[in-house]
Amino acid sequence: MTTRPVRISGVGAYAPEKVLTNADLEKMVDTTDEWITTRTGIRERHIAADDVPSSTLGIEAAKKALAHAGVQASALDMIIVATITPDYIYPATATIVQEAIGAVNAWCYDIEAACSGLIYGITIAEQFIRIGRAERVLVIAPETLSKITDWQDRNTCVLFGDGAGAVVVEAAVDDSRILASYIGGDGKYGDLLFMPGGGSLNPASEKSVAERMHYMKMSGGSVMKAAVGAMEMAVTKAMESAKLTPMDIDLIIPHQANMRIIQSVARFLEVDMAKMYTNLERYGNTSAASIGLALNEAIERGIVRKGSVVALVAFGGGFTWGSTIVRF
Ligand code: ACO
Repeated sequence: MTTRPVRISGVGAYAPEKVLTNADLEKMVDTTDEWITTRTGIRERHIAADDVPSSTLGIEAAKKALAHAGVQASALDMIIVATITPDYIYPATATIVQEAIGAVNAWCYDIEAACSGLIYGITIAEQFIRIGRAERVLVIAPETLSKITDWQDRNTCVLFGDGAGAVVVEAAVDDSRILASYIGGDGKYGDLLFMPGGGSLNPASEKSVAERMHYMKMSGGSVMKAAVGAMEMAVTKAMESAKLTPMDIDLIIPHQANMRIIQSVARFLEVDMAKMYTNLERYGNTSAASIGLALNEAIERGIVRKGSVVALVAFGGGFTWGSTIVRF
């Protein structure tokens, strides 16, 4: 079977206007700006209005990615939405985005790989294009984590925020292309980071609501240790597959969960923190959206430009992990 190289041709992102600062959180739970910044690096996060679902953020990010790629929505073959905060259990949020942007020729579905969702989505899109089954795929990662955050739990509520990232994936036309990808997972650790309620095991009931099951639960310390090892391993495997070393990578864009995780990954990879792009101080952890928000910002600031070699790397609930190395 003949295959062809694949590129990321457009990137977009969107965050809701409302900003919640650490000082605001000090008034809501027993915490301090000092604790949050030293333990996480986060200073503020964006929060969607009560009546704004993930699809609304995703639609805005999608429009920007399409404009950046110069692609009409009607030219899309496929839309993949990666999110842990879909508008509904069903139908897929991807179908809502499809209708809103007028992508009348696209088939569409959601995937769920938690914080690794964008990397999983890009990897799936890449395979369809590589074998000629699709020409143009839109991958969107919108999250409204504020809707599943327990605002009474200081262990988790200081960490998360809302936003969306989107990329257009197409066949390569020059040297710009996806150089390698590596994705993995391990279901042994599902209960370290999960939302127990709202699915078929614990459907919504008076009991599930009373027991606050519809909020994220997390064993922070264990998640942090696992995240460092898996992210370092994922980038290393992707680099090996592309026959690259850290010297060949211009920028690493990690999932924006915690500054200490990112610093540890840099140390294990033996790369300078200057090579690690971070914006979590302004967005918090936005799960699948975080890499798109950071990549879009790095492009807008001229840090990622034509020819830049960028490693995207994620880790999330499940556990799931993955890395994609792209030459832009
Ligand atoms: N304000 C003040 N004190 C707090 C707060 C808070 N917001 N939250 C917890 N504490 C207290 C705890 O109660 C504990 O007090 P104790 O010692 O009296 O019991 C103390 O601070 C230390 O808590 P730890 O959980 O040990 O703190 P740690 O250094 O592990 O940091 C954190 C916690 C920030 C959650 C960290 O473990 C982390 O970031 N883990 C990664 C998890 C993550 O990012 N998950 C998101 C999804 S997965 C991913 O994206 C990688």
